[in-house]
This record gives sequence, C-alpha cells and structure tokens, in this order.
Amino acid sequence: PRPVGGPVRFRTIASAAGALTLLLAIPASAATPTPGAPGIGDPYYPTYGNGGYDVGHYDLRLTYQPKTDALQGTATVLATTTQDLSRFDLDFALGVDSVLVNNHPAKFTESPAAHKLQITPDAPLAKGSDVTVVVRYHGVPSKVVVDGFTSWQRTPDGAVAANEPESAWWWFPSNDHPLDKATYDISVEVPTGDQVISNGVPTGQSTDIKGWTRYDWRQAKPQATYLATMAIGKFDVTKGTTAGGIPVINAYSTALGDATGAAKASVERTGEVIDWESTYFGPYPFATVGGYVPDTTSDFALETETRPFYSPTMFSSGSDVSVVVHELAHQWFGDSVSLKRWQDIWLNEGFATYAQWLWSQYQGEGTAQQLADYVYASHPAGDAFWKIEPGNPGAANQFADPIYDRGAAAIQTLRDTVGDKAFFTILKAWTAQHAYGNADFAQFQALAEKVSGKKLGPLFTTWLFTPARPATGPVAPGTK
Ligand code: ARG
Ligand code: ZN
Repeated sequence: PRPVGGPVRFRTIASAAGALTLLLAIPASAATPTPGAPGIGDPYYPTYGNGGYDVGHYDLRLTYQPKTDALQGTATVLATTTQDLSRFDLDFALGVDSVLVNNHPAKFTESPAAHKLQITPDAPLAKGSDVTVVVRYHGVPSKVVVDGFTSWQRTPDGAVAANEPESAWWWFPSNDHPLDKATYDISVEVPTGDQVISNGVPTGQSTDIKGWTRYDWRQAKPQATYLATMAIGKFDVTKGTTAGGIPVINAYSTALGDATGAAKASVERTGEVIDWESTYFGPYPFATVGGYVPDTTSDFALETETRPFYSPTMFSSGSDVSVVVHELAHQWFGDSVSLKRWQDIWLNEGFATYAQWLWSQYQGEGTAQQLADYVYASHPAGDAFWKIEPGNPGAANQFADPIYDRGAAAIQTLRDTVGDKAFFTILKAWTAQHAYGNADFAQFQALAEKVSGKKLGPLFTTWLFTPARPATGPVAPGTK
C-alpha cells in the first residue's frame, strides 16, 4: 500500500505547445516500508532506544496510588518518522491496554522483560510524517523486573523514578536513549495530601471532590529520557530565585529526620551554585532549577533535568554542597549537551567532577591542580584504577571511579596543556555550540584543538584511552 500521510510531489510538464500543463501525482517514496530497528544503535546498549522515528514531545497523564504502587495513565507521544515505517517499537515494561496511532487502533505486542512494546499501525507510515501515538497503560512498577532489576524506588509515602541509564520504561513508553531528546508535560494525580515533584515548572494543581489532587509539570526544553523524573510523597517545598533571577524549587521529604538540616544546608545553596557555575559554563540553560530529597534508601544522586535527585544518604554524615555542585554542573554537561552514545559518559562525569574541583578551590580548599595531583599520586602504577579507560570503560564500568576522577584529571591535564584562557574558552564554546543537543568525544577533541591550536590526540590517548597509569602526572609537559 502507498504510505499514508506522505508528501506528494507534483511534477509539472509543459506541452510542446506551451499551453497545456499536466499535473502528475507521484508518491514521494517508492521504498517498501520496513520495521524500525529495535535499538537506536548504541554499541554499549544495543537494545536501548529504537529506530525509525524521532520523538518531539511526551505528554504523560498519570494516576498513582502509593498504597498499592498502582500506576496507570495515558502517554501521548508526538514523533516524526525517519523512514517508511511498517511498525516500530517503544521501550516499555508496564501493561498496555490500548494503542492508537494517528487516532486509529494499532496492533501491539508486549515484551516487558525485553522492555519493548512493538506497535503495528493499521497502515504504514511514510518517512517524514508527524505521528501521534497514544498508549493507555497500567502496572505496579516495583514488581516489574527487567534484566534482573527494577529502578523504580518505592518509599514509605510514595515512589521515585530516577536512575541512569534505565528508568523510563518503568513509568512511560519512550525512545529510551539520550540521542532522542524531547519536551515533556508530566501530569500526575495522587491521593490528596500527597505531592508530586517533577522536571521544569509547575503549571497547575487541582483537587477533585473524590480525594485526588493532580499536579502538572512542564519541561519545555529538550530532555533525555533518563533525565525525566517523578517523585510522589510528602514534601516540604521551598521556593526562591537565584541572584541571577532563575526560579528555584526544592523539595525535601518530611520524613528525613535528623538529616533534614544537612540536606537543606546543601540543596538550599542551589541558587548560589548555579550562579557561580554560570560564570564558567555560560548561561544556565533552563527556565527553573532546584533539587529534591525523597525518603529513599538508595545511595546516589542524579542530574534529573532542572531538578536533581539526591538520596538522603548524601547528607547522612553532614552537609555536602559538592554533590550539589556535581549534579548542577550536569545541567550543562549531560542535560543540555547530551551524549550521542553511552561510551562517552566521561563527557558527563569528568566535567561534573571537575566542577567539584573548581568549587573546592573557590572554597579555599584543595585546588583543582592539587586534587588532580592527588588522584595521580594516590593510585600507583598497577592499581586497578588505571585499568579502566574513561573514554571507553565498557557498559559494566560506566559509573566506576576512574570515569569521575581520572576523567577530571584528564581535564586538568588539558587545562595545563592549553592554558587557562583557551581552557575556559573551550568550556563555554562547548556548552554554547551544543546547547540542547548531542555531541560526542571526537567533537570535543576537534573543538579543543581548534581553540588551542594544539594537537591533543596523544594527551587524550594517554588519559582516556590507555589501560595504564600515565607516565607523568596531570601537568603540562616540561612545566613541573
Ligand atoms: N550521573 C549520576 C551521578 O551524577 C550517576 C548515577 C549512577 N548511579 C546509579 N545508581 N544509577 O553521579
Ligand atoms: Zn555525575
């Protein structure tokens, strides 16, 4: 069948007499529609994301009952096809009730253990057409195990969706890879008395007579799927602005207990940190900022866009502004400028860690150079630390220490090699040139070489792509 909705080109043929014009309708695409690939093509995670379309917007309208961990709702996904498409996949693991494609019921096959929902529209979709996919679904996310685990975190008073790289398929159908960024409207209904925290700005709140309250949030700038977040629970919400005028919304579980003071003493400094980071990284890329600390037992923080997630354990022994500096640096490095492939995770974690080193120096504590020297000195040759290449760590080591510390030491070595002026120019050029987009390591090296006028291949090979300790520490050749 002819692809539905495709552009039709009209070819004008003038007759010899010049008086007669024929209009012939010719289908734009003669290609046979084929299935979209069940993976976006990331060598580290071959099954993550999908081919054949590009999502522009997710609209999630959900209802969550904390007592039973029951999540249900409707996802409306606005996408554009990138090929003539006979069928396509979304990454998803909850139960699907129905699927509409362009308002027509579509056939679907669920493979929750493989996090795939395969959708076959009633007619093929032509390349370049706008598609509206409506998925009605329900499930108990904490019971859904994919690849041996669930990243959905139930809490005593609610739940949290926050993890990297896997979190989306426990709560909404998506093209689950940073290459396909989109805007979001996230609307969640919860029992009245509970609250919902998510990305971006709150756009509405309404309570019905049956005891439910709906919270609406909007992130109008592109966001990778793993950076979408939602937390349900009882929160103490604080509001303010940065000195630069960006609205700040923070949320703390009311159940943090003794750690409440330390959590607030850290996350309440978000505005100060954002203004300080802007002087190094360029204008803050989003319309709002903040952070949230739910009542979880997990042990990590995550740069969920505009509103990082912090486990309470981050603050169990006292305040930690450095972790706030790290997650907020990711708003530039990872969230605005996103990875094209997970192999380049160093581009996220190295720079977020380097921001912590700059902050340390700003606080009058160890300088970035001292911290880099310490990383080098504290791991002798032969230490397993040097076996992991930050530039190609393998999926299993994606969040191992060397990605952070050796990655940041590589950045200090770059700075030592090109000088401060070129170094800070590179940082701002990087975040400006790729704002709201995706970029990879080769592009970073090209930019750094262009700005500095130096060939940097050997430096990056030594610090990022060699499974051994560099022969010399993080200083410019001949300067120390
Ligand atoms: N990007 C996060 C960070 O800022 C890494 C989180 C990884 N840990 C996890 N449990 N998913 O460090
Ligand atoms: Zn990080």
